[in-house]
Amino acid sequence: MTGAVVRIDAVSRTFHMGDVSVPVLHDVDLEIGAGECVAVIGPSGSGKSSLMNLVGLLDRPDTGRIFIEGIDTGRLSADRQAALRNRRIGFVFQSYNLLSRQTALANVQLPLLYAGVTPGERRRRAEAALDRVGLLHRAGHLPSKLSGGEQQRVAIARALINDPGIILADEPTGALDSRTGSEIIGLFEKLNEAGRTVLLITHDPGVAARCSRVIRILDGRIVGDSRQRLRDLAELRA
Ligand SMILES: Nc1ncnc2c1ncn2[C@@H]1O[C@H](COP(=O)(O)OP(=O)(O)O)[C@@H](O)[C@H]1O
Ligand SMILES: [Mg+2]
Repeated sequence: MTGAVVRIDAVSRTFHMGDVSVPVLHDVDLEIGAGECVAVIGPSGSGKSSLMNLVGLLDRPDTGRIFIEGIDTGRLSADRQAALRNRRIGFVFQSYNLLSRQTALANVQLPLLYAGVTPGERRRRAEAALDRVGLLHRAGHLPSKLSGGEQQRVAIARALINDPGIILADEPTGALDSRTGSEIIGLFEKLNEAGRTVLLITHDPGVAARCSRVIRILDGRIVGDSRQRLRDLAELRA
C-alpha cells in the first residue's frame, strides 16, 4: 500500500514495430502525492506521452507496477482498469479529441453514456461541468463553431464529468496562442487548488513555472525532479 495518488515502480516500456524494438521508458520510478501539480518536460520523443498513457491506464507496462490511489492496477482485469480510469482519471489532449458531429453538451456527456446515468441526470451534470469552465452559453454549439480555447474548455469539462481526483493533460496548450493557453492553465490551477492532483506535459517553461513540481524526462528516464517553493509560486501568480 502507499499514500501516493500515483506510484510507479520500476516501469519499463518497449514498443515493437515488426522486427524493430523501440525501448521508450527505462526503469522509471515516480511518486505523486495528493494535490500536487506536476509539470512533465523534456524533448520531443523522450517518452512523456508514453509515461502519461501508462499512468492513465491507456497502456500497460512491460515490467514494473503502477499504483493508482493505492491500487495495484496490473492486478486488475481490463474491465476494472477501464472502470478505474473512467471514474478517477480525467484526460485532456492537445488536439481536444471532440466528436465533430456532436454538440459541446453531447461531447461532455460522453463518459456518462456507459455509466448507466439517466438522460436528465447526464444533461444536468454536463451543464454543470460546462458552467465550471465558463462555457455553458456554448452548450449547443458544434466544435467547428468554437475557438480552439473553447474546444479545449469543452474537453476539460468532459474530463471533469465524473469528478476525477486525477487530471492528466498532454500538452493541453500546444495548439493555442499564449494568452488563451494561459487562461487554460488558469483552469488547471483552479482544479488543483480545489484538491485535484494534476499531471501536465508541456513544452512551455512559463507553464512549468506555474506547477509546484517539475519532472524532466530525457531518453525515457527521469533526469530531474524539483519542487518549487509555494511562496515563489504565489509571487509568480500575483
Ligand atoms: N505506439 C507506439 N508504437 C511505436 N513507437 C511508439 C509508440 N508510441 C510512441 N512511440 C515512440 O516512443 C518514443 C517516445 O514517444 P512519446 O512518448 O510520444 O514521446 P514524447 O511525448 O516525449 O514526445 C518515440 O520514439 C516514439 O516514436
Ligand atoms: Mg508527446
